[in-house]
Amino acid sequence: MGKLDGRVALITGGASGIGEATARLFAEEGAKLLITDILEQRGRQLAEELGTNTAFLNTDVSQEADVKGAIDHVLDKFGRLDVLFNNAGIPGPLGLIEEIPVEGFDAVMAINLRGVFLGIRYAAPVMKRQGSGNIISTASIAGIMVGAGGYPYSAAKAAVIHLTHLAAIELAENGIRVNCICPGAIATPIFGKSVGLSHEEAVKTVEIVKTGLAARQPLKRCGLPEDIAKAALWLASDDSSFVNGHALVVDSGVSLGRTWPECLQMASQLELLKSAVIPK
Ligand code: NAI
Repeated sequence: MGKLDGRVALITGGASGIGEATARLFAEEGAKLLITDILEQRGRQLAEELGTNTAFLNTDVSQEADVKGAIDHVLDKFGRLDVLFNNAGIPGPLGLIEEIPVEGFDAVMAINLRGVFLGIRYAAPVMKRQGSGNIISTASIAGIMVGAGGYPYSAAKAAVIHLTHLAAIELAENGIRVNCICPGAIATPIFGKSVGLSHEEAVKTVEIVKTGLAARQPLKRCGLPEDIAKAALWLASDDSSFVNGHALVVDSGVSLGRTWPECLQMASQLELLKSAVIPK
């Protein structure tokens, strides 16, 4: 028996990376699925591969009409909406504050924050009518620490975490749980896209990212999309039925702070204080 048997899920940004891995796992666990993305060809191929209980709809999460249309579509096709995974996102511009183009800031906010707001905004009334529902969004460790993403990206992800808190408290009385996931470094095309590569080009960088980021992780391996898909499955399933308003960090521990070699180096620097005041 699958953990999502009989459930209907909508995944945004479902044609690549974390969204794709989650679509595959949710389908394996028995969910009926609407995959949405702006990567039409890739999304349609994936939906066909996953079988007749999976459909695709071209949806830009920054557009209100598209998001509303996707919610209407899932209801037309499958009759209900049990799980919404607000996952679509872009990396946005990197750099110091004066180097961030205002239009780059707006683009990140429109997709990474407004897209999540719109998803919750239009799923909530449907789930309220059902008396049940489950909303999960992909935030990031960039939303809880400095240095894991650019200005707009990090600010948008911090806002997604708080949006999660706000909606979780409001919607709980309707039987709706709202949580988010804060992934660390996950080997997907998003890193290639952060330096301006197209999706097709960025796909070719995933193996380099996987090996390149491994040494920086406390667990000495890069995160995989499947690591986040499993977290999403846990949040989507009844296994987490008392979890609400939570930002689930899945990052090998990298956001916890300094590594032990760095701590020890700091401790040895502190020793120098002694020699500054105690005569030899
Ligand atoms: P990805 O680039 O493989 O997937 C992102 C998907 O979102 C793509 O399929 C893309 O076409 C879609 N998308 C972009 N703009 C869209 C729009 N306007 N409307 C609809 N779909 C759109 O990257 P990845 O890593 O799988 O990203 C998924 C989520 O995970 C994003 O929200 C990202 O910010 C987040 N994340 C990723 C991390 C990582 O290390 N890969 C770390 C933390 C968070």
